[in-house]
Amino acid sequence: MKTKILKPSSLNNKTVKNLIKETFIKSGLVIFPTETVYGIGANALSPEAAKKIYKAKGRPSDNPLIVHIAAKQDVKKYVKSINQDAFHLINKFWPGPLTLIFNKNAVVPKETTGNLNTVAIRMPNNKVALQLIKIAGMPLAAPSANLSGKPSSTKFKHVYQDFHGRVDIIINGGSSKIGIESTVVDTTVKPFVILRPGSITKAMIEKTLNKKVLDNSDKKPVGKVKSPGMKYVHYKPNGQVIIIEGSTKKVAAYINAQSSNLVGKKVIVVTKKENAKYFNYKVVSFSLKNSQKEIAHNLFDTLRKMDDLGADIIFVQHIGSKNLAYPIMNRLIKAAAYKVIKV
Ligand code: TXA
Ligand code: MG
Repeated sequence: MKTKILKPSSLNNKTVKNLIKETFIKSGLVIFPTETVYGIGANALSPEAAKKIYKAKGRPSDNPLIVHIAAKQDVKKYVKSINQDAFHLINKFWPGPLTLIFNKNAVVPKETTGNLNTVAIRMPNNKVALQLIKIAGMPLAAPSANLSGKPSSTKFKHVYQDFHGRVDIIINGGSSKIGIESTVVDTTVKPFVILRPGSITKAMIEKTLNKKVLDNSDKKPVGKVKSPGMKYVHYKPNGQVIIIEGSTKKVAAYINAQSSNLVGKKVIVVTKKENAKYFNYKVVSFSLKNSQKEIAHNLFDTLRKMDDLGADIIFVQHIGSKNLAYPIMNRLIKAAAYKVIKV
């Protein structure tokens, strides 16, 4: 398949608009930027389109898709009901990196929701994404634009690498502002439950609702899980990721002492740049300024770089769990398949 690469400015062009519309009508695939990560979008109301998404990603088809809309009031078209607290969250955080789960109505096909009776909906806070949904004239189902199991995509080069020749169109929207995927909140239960943490934190949600919500997202999945996305391998570079939690000196002592087990392996340590002097191995950093926002922004790009560097073993120093560190560690712990060593 020949993939057309578009610049955001071309979305104002009439011929391009028609091409996009036709592509979605034919259940085609368009990769587009959002404020969180790139998405691989298709008509959310077409079972055939959902199947194409699963195929392009190599994703198991019981993993439900998020439906992206361009206007708050459109949520009503796809759900059975919206409770008062869900309205509060919509009014406070949309457009933005918050996905809400509702009981779906018959308009949304089961192929889009991975056979669930619920549907995940969000309104992204990105001009290009909103313009694209409006041009499409339909809601867009869009999972993160990465091959299943791999780190999400936050740069044009990531989506080009994974999907060139496998989708109809890629819109080059530069690098994603936030860098980690939206917070997912189930509004069909009381209290609400956070199924995936993101840059909209539990504290922000509780403050808006003036009530407690639960967070299920850090539990290692066992048995039947509410958010099927949680049970698969996720965010994984080719090498093995191991999280080491502790003071920098102890982390360095632990890793340096492993040298006899690591002969012949390409080892990379991910920690702050200024810690490099403690380690006998190459150090890579998520952020030069050590700001949480910058770590989130660079997270998936850094994980993808591990493949370019040919890393066999990737030790990542735990960054704590306050504010954005919490959703960042959530991704890293999954990339490590839950292997966390405390020193
Ligand atoms: O920021 C984002 O949310 C990005 C951008 C492209 O919008 N999208 C994204 O989609 O991360 P995806 O498919 O990679 O992750 C969707 C997550 C999965 O963990 C999935 O299991 C969960 O949302 N999810 C979707 N529908 C659900 C439902 N009905 N019930 C429970 N969890 C659901
Ligand atoms: Mg994903």
